Amino acid sequence: MTAIRNNVDLIAGRTGGLKPRVGIVLGSGLGPFADDVADATVVSYGDLEGFPTPGVGGHAGRLLVGPVSGTPVAVLHGRAHLYESGRADAMAAPVRTLAALGCEALLLTNAAGSLREEAGPGAVMAITDHIGLTGVSPLFGAAGDDRFVNMVDAYDPDLRARLHDTAARIGLALHDGVYAWFCGPHFETPAEIRAARVLGADAVGMSTAPECILGRHAGLRVAALSMVTNLAAGMGGAALSHEQTLTVAATAAADVRRLLKAFLEDWPG
Ligand code: HPA
Repeated sequence: MTAIRNNVDLIAGRTGGLKPRVGIVLGSGLGPFADDVADATVVSYGDLEGFPTPGVGGHAGRLLVGPVSGTPVAVLHGRAHLYESGRADAMAAPVRTLAALGCEALLLTNAAGSLREEAGPGAVMAITDHIGLTGVSPLFGAAGDDRFVNMVDAYDPDLRARLHDTAARIGLALHDGVYAWFCGPHFETPAEIRAARVLGADAVGMSTAPECILGRHAGLRVAALSMVTNLAAGMGGAALSHEQTLTVAATAAADVRRLLKAFLEDWPG
């Protein structure tokens, strides 16, 4: 874990020791949230050990530390996915660094396809649970008994209830749903979407689940929000494309940005 210690020392040296309380991972389209971090200390992923070099349009590679709505946060602007390297632990160093910096909670965001007609493009969904469909774990190769992470209530029910309270306060419709993690980078087939529905999925995507596992392993409370950019494959609508994901995510991002800012205002203590 010397890499994590080195990262913490480097970041603390630049922030003057400001201790972030909440870690936030920005999904596709949510980059503008980085502008909400006041007087941000910005550290390039290239300066941090074990951090990925994100290669997908819409993902930068920088860590920002500073307050949002008065709460000190650490924002990961740029994530790596399983499909880039074949490694499910691509976000291990970033998540562990956030925990070692002192974050109590990890707030994950993503763009996702929806399996629910009533939660179509533009809808925002709080993830209640996930279904891993990739057959891999970000904890492959981890040592110690704490690798056997309990995944009951992995998405913290209390944080989710608070997200709902905040959403109600600001007049935002917030859905709940189960997220199915597919490996990508290809989109799902219609048959896979029908299978995912039978399994109990409400949304599908290519990220977030491994970060949730890593966060729980690191002792963080986890909450996650999906911005729906499309109805899932075979449910009608335009042909799926990453361009569409980015275009719709940019619109839905305004709502998620509002929700995050209001949520952080309410952060206790
Ligand atoms: N499938 C997987 N990932 C996605 C989708 C989808 O339909 N939309 C945005 N990210």
